[in-house]
Amino acid sequence: MAPRFAPKEPVVLDPPKEEVFTFTELAQYNGVEHPSIYVAVKGIVFDVTKKAEVYGPGKSYSVFAGKDGSRGLAKSSLKLEDAVPQIDGLTDSELVVLDDWFSYFSQRYNVMGTIADSMAKI
Ligand code: HEM
Repeated sequence: MAPRFAPKEPVVLDPPKEEVFTFTELAQYNGVEHPSIYVAVKGIVFDVTKKAEVYGPGKSYSVFAGKDGSRGLAKSSLKLEDAVPQIDGLTDSELVVLDDWFSYFSQRYNVMGTIADSMAKI
């Protein structure tokens, strides 16, 4: 049986890169300052540039571009104030949703590195 959240077509990913980003550095990768778009989930930075049609400036999920928006992913929220890495106070089911999103991104996008700030780690 196909794993949950598997893409319809298999995605061949590069070996994970090990660059360490500060939040300030990550913020450059929002499709404005830099043409590449990165989204971090649970402190792991993914290159989502191939989906610029949803993460690009003004697009539906641009709130996550250049950020670790783990809280918003967990809460199914697109609010700006939820697009933050802090996961304190989330319910067990929200944490499951976050893990599901981590699987989703892991199966589709190349890993560019991690976030330096320990607050982003889980
Ligand atoms: C009316 C509400 C919504 C609709 C109709 C909708 C619809 C969709 C659709 C059709 C996709 C594409 C799935 C695919 O490519 O297989 C998608 C992806 C996604 N949605 Fe939503 N969505 C909604 C709300 C939300 C909310 C509230 C969030 C906040 C977490 C969210 C986050 C995402 C994310 C992160 C993706 C993955 C994009 C990617 O990297 O491929 N969506 N959504």
